[in-house]
Amino acid sequence: MIEVKNVEKSFGDAKVLKGITTTFETGKTNLIIGQSGSGKTVLLKSLLGIHQPDSGTISFDGRIYSEMTSDEKRELRTEIGMVFQGSALFDSMTVEENVAFPLKMFSHKTPAEIKERVDFVIARVNLINAHHKKPSELSGGMQKRVAIARAIVNNPRYLFCDEPNSGLDPKTSIVIDNLIHEITVEYNITTVVNTHDMNSVMEIGEKIVFLKEGVLAWEGSKKEIFKTDNEAVTDFVYSSNLFKKIRKAQNKED
Ligand SMILES: Nc1ncnc2c1ncn2[C@@H]1O[C@H](COP(=O)(O)OP(=O)(O)OP(=O)(O)O)[C@@H](O)[C@H]1O
Ligand SMILES: [Mg+2]
Repeated sequence: MIEVKNVEKSFGDAKVLKGITTTFETGKTNLIIGQSGSGKTVLLKSLLGIHQPDSGTISFDGRIYSEMTSDEKRELRTEIGMVFQGSALFDSMTVEENVAFPLKMFSHKTPAEIKERVDFVIARVNLINAHHKKPSELSGGMQKRVAIARAIVNNPRYLFCDEPNSGLDPKTSIVIDNLIHEITVEYNITTVVNTHDMNSVMEIGEKIVFLKEGVLAWEGSKKEIFKTDNEAVTDFVYSSNLFKKIRKAQNKED
């Protein structure tokens, strides 16, 4: 479990995170949703240690980040897998080399062990006949699979994904969402996903944190989000007509 307490972050005069307090649970897909500019990426980068909060604490299963030694922080870093917005694969490397990269960087595995683990995760994300291809030869959905394979290759305890569906069609997005969810449950990972995709909320939103202008305006489950009267949430969720219709249909069912 990751616990975030009163986290604040400013850039110059601009306060981007205004005292965020929440928990991200283990074995669940925790979603951070909110409009563009609401602070989702800054919060995720704060979890990653890329941004240092101005105040507040972030703890990883009881380990408070700001109180850890450099060695402990380095160790924690090896426990985190990250899927960046736009996949961020190495263009000049093959799929196999991309996926092997964190193991070469962060583990003491032998080449044979690396090959075995890389083959395993590539199969786990259902990438077929792609070992020797370059990212430019793959579809967007396949590139995401490679990014996910690379993020989980080192058996992370924590998995962070920033907009894993950006650039994907709705059907492929659902496949990628479900893959992230399955992996989270299967390996009991604490997963945090940034998204503004309402389909993701409906598919995998076990715990949803809604940010508005740097404030945590609401949190709850996917079931609760369609029932809440919190105006900020309904504004965001029902900006699409489709979801207005779903809400109507759901209320009739109840
Ligand atoms: N390194 C930075 N320096 C200065 N300002 C920043 C920096 N990173 C983010 N910001 C500002 O913080 C605010 C929140 O940005 P953030 O990237 O977290 O939004 P977001 O919710 O991820 O949006 P999107 O959905 O578009 O990805 C924005 O106003 C942005 O300009
Ligand atoms: Mg972002």
